[in-house]
Amino acid sequence: MIYKKDKLTIEGFDVSFLGKKYKTPIYCYSLKKIKDNIENLKRNFKKIDPLICYAVKANSNLNILKEIKKQNLGADVVSLGELMKALKAGIKPKKIVFSGVGKTEAEIEYAISKNILLINAESKSEILEIEKIAKIKKKNVDIGIRLNPNTDAKTLNQISTGKKENKFGVNQKIFLQLIDYLKKSKYLNLKCLSVHIGSQILSHKPYQSMLKVIDKILKKTNHKFEYIDLGGGMGIDYNHNNSKIDLKKYYKDIEKFLKKNNYKIIFEPGRSIVGNSAILITKIIYIKQGYKKDFVILDAAMNDLMRPALYGANHKIIPTKKVRNNKNKNYEFVGPICESTDTFSTVRKYQKLNEKDFLVICDVGAYGTSLASNYNVRPKPIEILIKGSKIQIISKRQKISELM
Ligand code: LLP
Repeated sequence: MIYKKDKLTIEGFDVSFLGKKYKTPIYCYSLKKIKDNIENLKRNFKKIDPLICYAVKANSNLNILKEIKKQNLGADVVSLGELMKALKAGIKPKKIVFSGVGKTEAEIEYAISKNILLINAESKSEILEIEKIAKIKKKNVDIGIRLNPNTDAKTLNQISTGKKENKFGVNQKIFLQLIDYLKKSKYLNLKCLSVHIGSQILSHKPYQSMLKVIDKILKKTNHKFEYIDLGGGMGIDYNHNNSKIDLKKYYKDIEKFLKKNNYKIIFEPGRSIVGNSAILITKIIYIKQGYKKDFVILDAAMNDLMRPALYGANHKIIPTKKVRNNKNKNYEFVGPICESTDTFSTVRKYQKLNEKDFLVICDVGAYGTSLASNYNVRPKPIEILIKGSKIQIISKRQKISELM
């Protein structure tokens, strides 16, 4: 996004023009950004040639999935719906891994019938369930076990997944027991050790600790794993102050780890692929005075973008028309929903805004639409994808009639 003559543009399109044309709120994606992000990941990890399985939960729009498939990525799915969508987008079953603590019988059956690459199991009970179904289907099934490495990802507590108090994976003792159990299994092949310690991780250090734990546990067993699935979690620069993860350092740690061990690495990135690829274009409905600040009431709300309400997450809000030398307003940007958590951010020294102006909420490509709801019977926004000089509508605005 850049300002041209003080007007905000995205990939050459005037944002206010898009706002007028498609009516707000609008999720507007840049295909170029998605491709650049994928290219960046591939480039940084080129030497180890990982299998990159896009975490569908970050954004499951079918057209986005199709574009990601065109870049030869696989998928990490966590439900029957996500698995079906990944397949529908054309992603090859042998590039799909299935994560999650509570896979149901129906989900496991479907995954087995589609011959996906790996079901990453997270408990003994789940392994028994997979084994039972494999036996009925008389099929050999490749699985992974997700280890809980008890590593602090140093991210928001709500999106940490690798600490001992978290529900994910199995502890080291059970991990070793399960390896022994699986040695005798006729139907299950243990191929992968998987981990995922959390999301929006901004330093390579937690990954370094995680790799040490993996290294240690691998030394305690002579089982020959084929894959090590390191999960996703690579953080992005929401604050626009260059605070994103240094992938070169992460790569170095993995390279060191692989010197002692020879495995195919799997990644499950979500946010780092789509996070900064989209903006939410919104319009100011009203501006009203509070006690100490003015409330800017937007036509986008917490049902469209949950992250601020749910995690206190920060998304920059920028004007579509820059005004210079007039930055003296204290604003709180809020949605129209009847909840006090329906607030996006409070900003000091902001330029003076006017009712009916368009604004942009930045970096909403990951966990934006995928977490959106119809709370307050609000229809979900339109989604558009900029592809070079063309715009594709990749999801129509819901009609209120669909919600009746
Ligand atoms: N793999 C597994 C097993 C996961 O649970 C997740 C995310 C990922 C991969 C992808 O992580 P990423 O690369 O996107 O960080 N709704 C929250 C994020 C929840 C993440 C859940 N798991 C948010 O809006 O920040």
